[in-house]
Amino acid sequence: MMNIAVAQSGGPTCAINASLVGVFRESLKEPSIDAIFGSVNGIEGIIGNHLVDLKSMILTNDDIELLKQTPSTVLGSCRYKLPDWREDEEVYKKIVKTLKQRNIGAFFYIGGNDSMDTVNKLSEYFSTIDLYVKVIGIPKTIDNDLCVTDHTPGFGSAAKYVACTMHEITRDSTVYSMPSVTVVEVMGRHAGWLTASSAVLHAMGETAPHLVYVPESEFSLENFLSDVRQEMSKHKAVIVAVSEGIEVPEGVQSGVVDNFGHKYLSGIGKYLEDIVRKEIGCKVRSIELNVMQRCSSHLASKTDIDEAESIGAAGVRCALSGETGKVMAFRRISDMPYTVVIETADAYEIANNEKHLPKEYINSAGNNIRDFALSYFLPLIQGELNPIMSQGIPKHFAIHESVLK
Ligand code: F6P
Repeated sequence: MMNIAVAQSGGPTCAINASLVGVFRESLKEPSIDAIFGSVNGIEGIIGNHLVDLKSMILTNDDIELLKQTPSTVLGSCRYKLPDWREDEEVYKKIVKTLKQRNIGAFFYIGGNDSMDTVNKLSEYFSTIDLYVKVIGIPKTIDNDLCVTDHTPGFGSAAKYVACTMHEITRDSTVYSMPSVTVVEVMGRHAGWLTASSAVLHAMGETAPHLVYVPESEFSLENFLSDVRQEMSKHKAVIVAVSEGIEVPEGVQSGVVDNFGHKYLSGIGKYLEDIVRKEIGCKVRSIELNVMQRCSSHLASKTDIDEAESIGAAGVRCALSGETGKVMAFRRISDMPYTVVIETADAYEIANNEKHLPKEYINSAGNNIRDFALSYFLPLIQGELNPIMSQGIPKHFAIHESVLK
């Protein structure tokens, strides 16, 4: 008999708890697995031996359904970068101590490219010290920037929220007779996937978003203003989708960085709003979708949530088959009918790398998304969860904060 541990890491999504459910449910089926531990705040919980017994917390089918519809990371998260074990072994010794003390035979890390760096380093270290603990990565990120996998759990729900919100903003922006510009700032760091996904509105016959700016395309203020003027000559209300990660002058963003050296991005929408006001002088508003795009589970994509659970479950089967240092990945077989299969990739292929939006998805002017690319995005946003409600609000599953402290 062995125990297992699961942890969540990096920026939250609407689907990361569904992957936890996948790991949990699949582990329950396996007679060789006894306790299922949740590590609080990602790898920090393993380092500090702060684990919770998930079997005593997730008790009923209702708990499971609620967990699947709850955004964010129920176990908390972290942005913790492990040192190279050849240079600094201290933290690895603490990890090994917890794993041995708790008789953990497999560790599942649900996270993005930074978290896969942890999967890679741990599996390498364990093999050098002959510790037979399997380490498996379960992908997630709204940024959709993980190499090898067709897409990442969490992205579909964020994309659905961005598109639905952009659709609603479009209606709101056209009410007055005066011309206007609305700049919508979308997350995604250095990858334009989420910003580009707003173009799915074109598949419904909408002309908005009229302009889409992603980090994969060079950005110039001069071209931006000329694009806006041109769109204003065609439309009363111009909607612009802009990625938080486009190149802007020093000082627009805070300059603060996390443990992986990633800058905290935000502020580009406001910056462009001010420029449009100064240079064009029309009614202009900027909207930063901010954390809503990664936690608005009332608009989650059912496809995304179902896939997140399946890939978590597949991670358990992968560990049981004896694999380690692997990350689960989707391979798309077809867009229509939408079909994917789950495969494995080596964690080092994904760790610390970024997958960018293909150049061919972007139009020649570098200011919108080509129609053929919509068939990539559309299947990922299909289906609704119909959440369990209370007092007119979707219910959430939560572990009491005193347990997580
Ligand atoms: O992890 C993805 C992400 O949501 C990015 O899109 C965003 O730039 C970043 O995280 C924000 O980081 P934090 O959660 O630390 O504010």
